[in-house]
Amino acid sequence: MATKRILTGIRPTGPLHLGHKVGALDNWVRLQNEGQYECYFLIADVQGLTTHAHQPQLIEEAVREVVLDWLAIGLDPELSNVHFVLQSAVIERYELSILLQMVTPWSWVENNPTVKAEMNGLENDMVVGFPSYPVDQAADILMVAPVPVLDNNELLVPVGEDQVPHLELTRRIARRFNHMYGCKILPDCKPLIGDVGRLVGTDGNEKMSKSKNNAIYLGDAEATIKKKVNSMYTDPNKIRVTDPGNVTNHIPFKYLRVFYPDQCEIDQLQVDYERGRVGDVKIKRLLAQTLNEIIVPIYERRLEASIRTDLRDLVEDGTKKARLLTQQVTQTVREAMHLNYHKL
Ligand code: TRP
Repeated sequence: MATKRILTGIRPTGPLHLGHKVGALDNWVRLQNEGQYECYFLIADVQGLTTHAHQPQLIEEAVREVVLDWLAIGLDPELSNVHFVLQSAVIERYELSILLQMVTPWSWVENNPTVKAEMNGLENDMVVGFPSYPVDQAADILMVAPVPVLDNNELLVPVGEDQVPHLELTRRIARRFNHMYGCKILPDCKPLIGDVGRLVGTDGNEKMSKSKNNAIYLGDAEATIKKKVNSMYTDPNKIRVTDPGNVTNHIPFKYLRVFYPDQCEIDQLQVDYERGRVGDVKIKRLLAQTLNEIIVPIYERRLEASIRTDLRDLVEDGTKKARLLTQQVTQTVREAMHLNYHKL
């Protein structure tokens, strides 16, 4: 039988927001429910340290936040095909990561556009582990690879658009590894990109992120959402309702395009806005209401999750499952690299 696995993950550096939801999480929930894949959802706390080693308590708290957000959005580690994995606790992964570093040319990491963009936002001295984190991420993905390569097997990585360069790197590393050691051990992983590659921030910035303070969180209360929606940039030239409007840089419209269930209504609303028949107040009210309808059930499930006493067990169980796979992969990789010294 074919082995189909999913590995994907998130850095625990803060609570999750709507950008995570549409860019990735919605896909994860769908794939989990379809039941075709063994799913490994990774809480990438080691990767979090590449920028936050000086704030270990922040990472520690965020690990809990991520688990709560995942449960709230509908991921369910009680399903037999779903595992929550704590990256730092998969000991064998560190070994795999170092070994993959040895077959990865520096030039492949040097020009990674996602790393470059993140480098510009660094608040502290860049640590050695930072520019090479995509290689470490390749170890995250390949640690659950079905090995050796067989035709029907699959390793799927559902992520947001910004992760595409990392997946491309993972494929290059796997191919180079196989080529270098004349084997077919590491498979090609396949990306699956969320519906909305990237959700703009509430300030119109191209990415929603905690550091830019432009995010709407899955745990935001109704009043907070209203406030955030009201502060969104619209068309500054439309002063009165009857002025003609332009939606090109209109943030609430951009959000309605993503979140409102009936897009024909939004088409009509846009025409009305452009012709001066409707104003920002009404649009913002509609958006706040739309977002609330999405977030309230998540908020409630999050509250329920927060009083559970078995969160640690859930993560421990999933991590154990991942370790069993990682032990196999790492052992196979070590042997291919002649690190067993049979000839000694
Ligand atoms: N880089 C991802 C992020 O910033 C997190 C991550 C770590 C990841 N390891 C992964 C994503 C493996 C997909 C697969 O959110």
